Amino acid sequence: MNIRLARVEDLPGMQACNLQNLPENYTMKYYLYHALTWPQLSYVAEEDGKIVGYILAKMEEDVADGDEPHGHVTSISVLRSYRRLGLAKRLMIQSQEAMATVYKAAYVSLHVRKSNRAALGLYRDTLGFTVKDIEKGYYADGEDAYAMRLSLQHLA
Ligand code: ACO
Repeated sequence: MNIRLARVEDLPGMQACNLQNLPENYTMKYYLYHALTWPQLSYVAEEDGKIVGYILAKMEEDVADGDEPHGHVTSISVLRSYRRLGLAKRLMIQSQEAMATVYKAAYVSLHVRKSNRAALGLYRDTLGFTVKDIEKGYYADGEDAYAMRLSLQHLA
């Protein structure tokens, strides 16, 4: 399995993967915005030319006064038959390293559904994220989100 930086021609494959895996979907314009603005932060897992997993990530643009520059994971997913192989962990770590080294990100943030056991296992247990806040009714169907964070200071 090949993990590599996402290229513009990968975006339709990433979007297809996202549509299969998650109810949170994005316009092609938004994928393109990520790829053109932060070309170092999004990665794909590829097998025989097919995108089987991706991480779509960015730097946070609205940094509050006193806050530090930080990265944000917009979306990550892996096709069902490729799960539990360590792909999401590898995608997360690649992006986190680029956030820290290229953009001097102090930390990385993300939102996750409270009910998403697999993703919580990945973020909290495997990668060491902590819950910073609970955002009530964050998702379109009314579910709450955990706002999670992981310091990247050790990578600076
Ligand atoms: N149950 C419990 N823990 C899990 C599970 C699970 N089903 N899947 C992964 N984990 C945890 C485990 O700790 C695992 O380590 P281990 O296998 O050594 O026990 C660790 O995460 C790493 O697992 P990976 O193999 O790297 O994860 P995978 O490639 O399977 O992808 C993902 C995990 C992305 C959450 C996948 O299940 C998926 O695509 N789910 C649907 C989409 C989704 O929920 N995306 C996240 C939304 S939030 C956001 O995008 C910011």
